[in-house]
Amino acid sequence: MAGSFQADFSSVVFLAALFGCCWSVNPGLRTALTSKGLNYACSVGIPILEKELLTVAIPDISGDADTPIGSISYSLSNIKLVSFKIPTASITSSSGGLSAQASGISIYVTADWHYREDSWPHISDSGSLDVSGSSISLEVGVVMGADSKGHATLSSTTCSFNIGNLDVHFSGGAAWLYNLFSDDIADSLKDSLRGQVCDEAKSTINTQGNAALETLPVIVQVDSISEIDFRLLQSPSFTSEYMETLHKGEFYSIAHPVEAPFTPPPLPPIANTTKMIYFWLTDYIAESAGFVYTMAGALQYNITPDMIPSSFPFKLNTASFKALIPELYQKFPNWPMQLDLNATKPPDFTFSPSLGGNLTVFGDMAVEVVSPTNKSMQLAFVLGLILYADASVAVKTNKSGGDIATFNATFLKVDMTLLESNVGDFNVAVLQTVVNLVCTGFVIPTINQYGSTGIPIPTVDGVTLVNPTVTFGQDYVVIGSDINYIPPPSLYNSKRQH
Ligand SMILES: *[C@@H]1O[C@H](CO)[C@@H](O)[C@H](O)[C@H]1NC(C)=O
Ligand SMILES: *[C@@H]1O[C@H](CO)[C@@H](O)[C@H](O)[C@H]1NC(C)=O
Ligand SMILES: *[C@@H]1O[C@H](CO)[C@@H](O)[C@H](O)[C@H]1NC(C)=O
Ligand SMILES: *[C@@H]1O[C@H](CO)[C@@H](O)[C@H](O)[C@H]1NC(C)=O
Ligand SMILES: *[C@@H]1O[C@H](CO)[C@@H](O)[C@H](O)[C@H]1NC(C)=O
Ligand SMILES: *[C@@H]1O[C@H](CO)[C@@H](O)[C@H](O)[C@H]1NC(C)=O
Repeated sequence: MAGSFQADFSSVVFLAALFGCCWSVNPGLRTALTSKGLNYACSVGIPILEKELLTVAIPDISGDADTPIGSISYSLSNIKLVSFKIPTASITSSSGGLSAQASGISIYVTADWHYREDSWPHISDSGSLDVSGSSISLEVGVVMGADSKGHATLSSTTCSFNIGNLDVHFSGGAAWLYNLFSDDIADSLKDSLRGQVCDEAKSTINTQGNAALETLPVIVQVDSISEIDFRLLQSPSFTSEYMETLHKGEFYSIAHPVEAPFTPPPLPPIANTTKMIYFWLTDYIAESAGFVYTMAGALQYNITPDMIPSSFPFKLNTASFKALIPELYQKFPNWPMQLDLNATKPPDFTFSPSLGGNLTVFGDMAVEVVSPTNKSMQLAFVLGLILYADASVAVKTNKSGGDIATFNATFLKVDMTLLESNVGDFNVAVLQTVVNLVCTGFVIPTINQYGSTGIPIPTVDGVTLVNPTVTFGQDYVVIGSDINYIPPPSLYNSKRQH
């Protein structure tokens, strides 16, 4: 049995290598961040942007002008953006990428003014001024990509910053200064603000946006045996309703990473965008986990007499089986027994809309007897087992507060065959009750231990799921959820120098 599976496995690996180019077309995991989610993310980003924009450095403005007192040289210095208020903003997505728009922005600028008459008597004066700007709009275009390691990246490409009105208030100075300002200086100030604000907005979005995206997990270690690969298979894509990302979504053995000998199923088009975010977890992810743990020999363990609860109607001693398998008792009277359970091929997960989650586990159980005098073991018989279970999927929070998708299996039935026997032929049906108890008491709890570790749901740091729902589809489960996003404090602290 082991031999034939080994052969199948290597031929599949060969085919995988041969057609390696075309294997990763379907993702193991897909996500969609909907318009609702994008707008929410935008609303969270606004205070960060507002704060960063206050650090904009605006160069001094100077010039010459003809005035009622003759020709002068003037300068505005110490120009400071002291308030930048973005009341609302929204994101639209289209096939080209994302565009963030904000309007009704108001700003408040303070500066010092100074002028000097060019010719004698070189009259000069100075003071301060403040400027309120309103009816301002900002629009930044963002494109997204994936780097060679499968990280998501973003880059802001275009920016426009349009200032409707600037209202100036001088303290000190003559009336002609107002005219001078509204003619020349206001235009220079608008130009300067436009350039500086756009540079700062683009650089903030690039720096803080990429810093946030870097926390999106690519490789996550699950335990000492496996890690899960969430790399992006291609750049994120966009429609007017959502941003879609396709991820590898596969478990790998840490010790011996090899490609799973099967492929992810196709997923249906994205139809529902009522929640902020959706995650499609295919049965491929679960099966790649089963493949890794089976190959690692982790789905294998022994049950000894001391492990049998007193509530069980049998003990691991041939005396308990005297009536069921007389030859066992005759050959080994009152000998203790040991059960060696082993998964012989990876478990099969099937998700479907009508039945939910089904799990089938393939294994065998070697029943050994232990010599009471010298503790040596002899094989009594081997049962082939196919265990059927119902698998439910839930979203939980792990110890460190991360969202994880867990599964939990419930025993349905187990089919048995006698593969080998040193105690003669017997009807395996006599062991049904015993094997059912072994499954419910040992096998299912072990599977559920792996299931409760779950798989991490990949989100950027600071995101938690709110009211997630789990729905079964054909070969996948989809988790739909709203989100709560509290950006880590580091995103509020620009490391850049001005
Ligand atoms: C478990 O089954 C696999 C596949 O049949 C086999 O290669 C492995 O040796 C078995 N392990 C034990 C401990 O029986
Ligand atoms: C979309 O999802 C919501 C909740 O997740 C559900 O109530 C609704 O029926 C779904 N709509 C469609 C068209 O599937
Ligand atoms: C799948 O699970 C459902 C219960 O969730 C059960 O009714 C059905 O018989 C199972 N199918 C198989 C093939 O085990
Ligand atoms: C252990 O004892 C059994 C009988 O209980 C005997 O058949 C077997 O040969 C012994 N083995 C060793 C290694 O002594
Ligand atoms: C908890 O979940 C997060 C996100 O899903 C994951 O990054 C982290 O490794 C998990 N930690 C533990 C201890 O399970
Ligand atoms: C998992 O399923 C078992 C039955 O197999 C049940 O006893 C247990 O309460 C379930 N656990 C969770 C967390 O649903």
